[in-house]
Amino acid sequence: MCGIAGYVGDYDAKSILYECIKRLEYRGYDSYGYAIISSNKLFVEKNVGYIKPISLNVRANIGIAHTRWATHGKVSKENAHPHTSCNNLIAVVHNGIIKNFKELRNELINKGHKFKSETDTEVVAHLIEEYLKENDFEEAFRKAILKLKGSFAIAAIYVNQPDKILIARNENPLLIGIGNFGNFIASDVNAFIKYTKRAIALDDFEYGIVTKNGFVIKDLYTKRKIKKSEIRIDWDEDLALKEGYEHFMLKEINEEPIVVSYALNINFDENILNLLLNSSKIYLIGAGTSLHAGMHAEYWFSKYCRIQAIATDATELFERCVVDKDTTIIAISQSGETYDTLVAMKEAKKHGAKIISIVNVPGSTATRLSDYTILQGAGVEVAVCATKTYVSQLVILLKLILELSKRLGYYDGFLDEEISSLKEKIENVLRNCNDIRKVANDMFKSKNYLFLSRGINLPSAYEAALKLKEITYFHAEGMSSAMLKHGTISLIDENMETIFLIPGSGRNRERIISNLHEVLSRGGKVLAITPKEVKDVVNIIVPDTSEDLLPIVFAPAYQLLAYYVAYKYGREIDKPRHLAKSVTVE
Ligand code: G6P
Repeated sequence: MCGIAGYVGDYDAKSILYECIKRLEYRGYDSYGYAIISSNKLFVEKNVGYIKPISLNVRANIGIAHTRWATHGKVSKENAHPHTSCNNLIAVVHNGIIKNFKELRNELINKGHKFKSETDTEVVAHLIEEYLKENDFEEAFRKAILKLKGSFAIAAIYVNQPDKILIARNENPLLIGIGNFGNFIASDVNAFIKYTKRAIALDDFEYGIVTKNGFVIKDLYTKRKIKKSEIRIDWDEDLALKEGYEHFMLKEINEEPIVVSYALNINFDENILNLLLNSSKIYLIGAGTSLHAGMHAEYWFSKYCRIQAIATDATELFERCVVDKDTTIIAISQSGETYDTLVAMKEAKKHGAKIISIVNVPGSTATRLSDYTILQGAGVEVAVCATKTYVSQLVILLKLILELSKRLGYYDGFLDEEISSLKEKIENVLRNCNDIRKVANDMFKSKNYLFLSRGINLPSAYEAALKLKEITYFHAEGMSSAMLKHGTISLIDENMETIFLIPGSGRNRERIISNLHEVLSRGGKVLAITPKEVKDVVNIIVPDTSEDLLPIVFAPAYQLLAYYVAYKYGREIDKPRHLAKSVTVE
């Protein structure tokens, strides 16, 4: 979940590396570093904290950079990447975890190598140095990589061959960006999207040699050259800029109307529809926010298709589900790089299951592991906290399920008009942001929150709680309002703030309001987010729509609420502590 970037070409590597790595800061932001080669010398600059440009005043046409989310070794300048060999001729950056690093480190120490950090990564620089005694750079690099057990995306440069960056991958994303004035490497397309929209993705156990004028990709074991197809990233690079908004999160919430329009225009491949219609088992897998999107889909599948789909945390798939050749997995992942989701996908494939993925990042690993991919087209999402991509996942899943329902003869279009007005409804919530801000300022004084709802909006309660937790660092829990009385109600007192997500009409409205009174009568503080005012409590009013579409309208309201609460407490909204946008480790 760290970020890697590299450049080799005609231009000044220093400023390009800064631009690239800065755009990856959401992948980790404990510490950062650069290594560049200038006049046959390696220069390394690293530091703790947020990324700053290179201060060295030398000219370089090649370099690598890294932004770190610590796994092995504390956050310190020494542990920041790049790591170097004893002779200071080799520099390495790495994402992932090298499981056998202790053995390798001991072997290298016995051979006289001196280590400067506590990281697993440093062994790679020393291994290359060791193999360079009898091999050229490429072969030394390949042999070093073959010694590693674990997951990695690695890039290395060597002073004596200052024209190339060597890269290798296993279970961690790594791409080459094909530029006009040099080439790039990165763990994520965002790094180089300002410079090029043409990318090549490495797959597991491949390595690459990247030079100013080209690249070659080879199999790590056989050294056979591998032909790869080019990926075009149709993203607007400006989406990675704040454009006057104080935070990416706020900007991205404001992009939800556009994202909804895009999602509503997606046409599904006939093969995807047929596969789902002919599967005896459907499991929706994901992590965090993407899992919550899958949970909504479970409700929609049962209601509109009479299909029992199961949404599960990807790591639990094989603990609770029967996966075989009659199974279709719908893997949901914004980044397409979440380790837990990818592992479940690979395992499901081995069991003969077919995989459809819903992914935002083109060319990501999930897209390459899937039989079919539905690209979200939501554009880059920079804030760690997922907002617009969640709304896009919901709209895509709803549309997909209604399309299946139509083919099954259950759906005759009765929701179509309401669905086409979702964009306006979200715009309406966004216009009322000052009301939401006022509630955030007047309430939210506690350290504990409960988000409560029922039915299709129960996953909304989970997601609303997750948003608040992620960026405010307050404890929040999402749960069924009906289940409150089975234990959690004992927590209710004047310090417990409860937020109810309530539909505008119907049985669930009455039931949830009755649960709300259980809280009020025990002295709890209550906020209702609802299309129709609830008496005796503070309300945030959202536009009315069918209960089944409300998850899409509630989302911007509770996302803004979390945003303003975090703002009030001065949190690092776009980069909450300890988190990273995509978690590429186990
Ligand atoms: C991390 C992020 C979450 C995200 C989850 C799944 O935990 O902090 O915000 O929801 O990963 O990410 P994905 O890219 O697979 O949707």
